Amino acid sequence: MRKVIDLQPDTSALLEESIAGLKASPRQLPCKYFYDAEGARLFEQICELPEYYPTRTEVGILKQHLPEMAKLIGANARIVEYGSGAGTKIRLLLDALREPVAYTPIDISREQLAAAAEELQRDFAELEIQPVCADYSSALTLPSPQRAFARSVVFFPGSTIGNFPQAEALALLKRFARLAAQGDQPGGLLIGVDVKKSRQRIEAAYNDTQGVTADFNLNILKRLNREVGANFELEHWQHHAFWNEQSGAIEMHLVSRREQQVRINGDRFTFAEGDSVHTENSFKYSPDEFTELAAQAGFVRRGLWQDEEQLFSVQYFELP
Ligand code: AVJ
Repeated sequence: MRKVIDLQPDTSALLEESIAGLKASPRQLPCKYFYDAEGARLFEQICELPEYYPTRTEVGILKQHLPEMAKLIGANARIVEYGSGAGTKIRLLLDALREPVAYTPIDISREQLAAAAEELQRDFAELEIQPVCADYSSALTLPSPQRAFARSVVFFPGSTIGNFPQAEALALLKRFARLAAQGDQPGGLLIGVDVKKSRQRIEAAYNDTQGVTADFNLNILKRLNREVGANFELEHWQHHAFWNEQSGAIEMHLVSRREQQVRINGDRFTFAEGDSVHTENSFKYSPDEFTELAAQAGFVRRGLWQDEEQLFSVQYFELP
């Protein structure tokens, strides 16, 4: 494995973006900052929760249909994965592909990225792995593989696309399209997208009975205390998640349990009881809604796979 290319946002980015978010109306914090080492661990725990259906449903779809997906992707591909996390799903894909040439995992969580890439290299000795630690919500330059490859394919599982409001999601898809154009042949995008369903089912997935999602949400305050010297008192904040039918997203918030003041660096923020800080959107799409969005970025759908209950979708798009 080549060394991790380290473009991880520094503490000043965390500080500036958090302060800007808390000064905005409505108040917000960027969800990408959930994923410090502790947050990455908590998210792995979320993936195992009985209520959190996306991970196990997507893995089920992948396991069932990977031969077909691999056929569409073809031999000698270069795979670029956005938000690679623990690196569980890429193993399934790599096992199914014919002689993949290179793999670039991109993740904001450096410790997890380095560990996952190293472990992967042990099992895929021939594969050129080039991990990049970065916030991919804005453009970034990726390393080119040393060996020639047939096409570039973006792998974006987990419905992480749901964290981006439509305009940002479209901008990201357009960047994927530019990346997919690199190589001898037009490439593609293999993406996991969570599907709209009953309020009850969605809200249960983000309000688990063990409170792991609450800990994951609150962890961003812990991180601000530790890394930028804020003084949030965690016991005075409450996890709140609800389905917003209007926008088509589940929203996570942190709600102030009482009137309180918080200091971050030179700034002081006052919260009344019930005031909320919006920490995450997770947009859901019907397969056709998402196909329409991807089409605006120049992608044509070549494959759509779902579980029996149609809880989740995996879709493969190509450039024409
Ligand atoms: C990793 C962004 C796909 O939105 O479902 C899980 C993060 N937040 N539980 C999601 C998350 C609360 C997750 N994504």
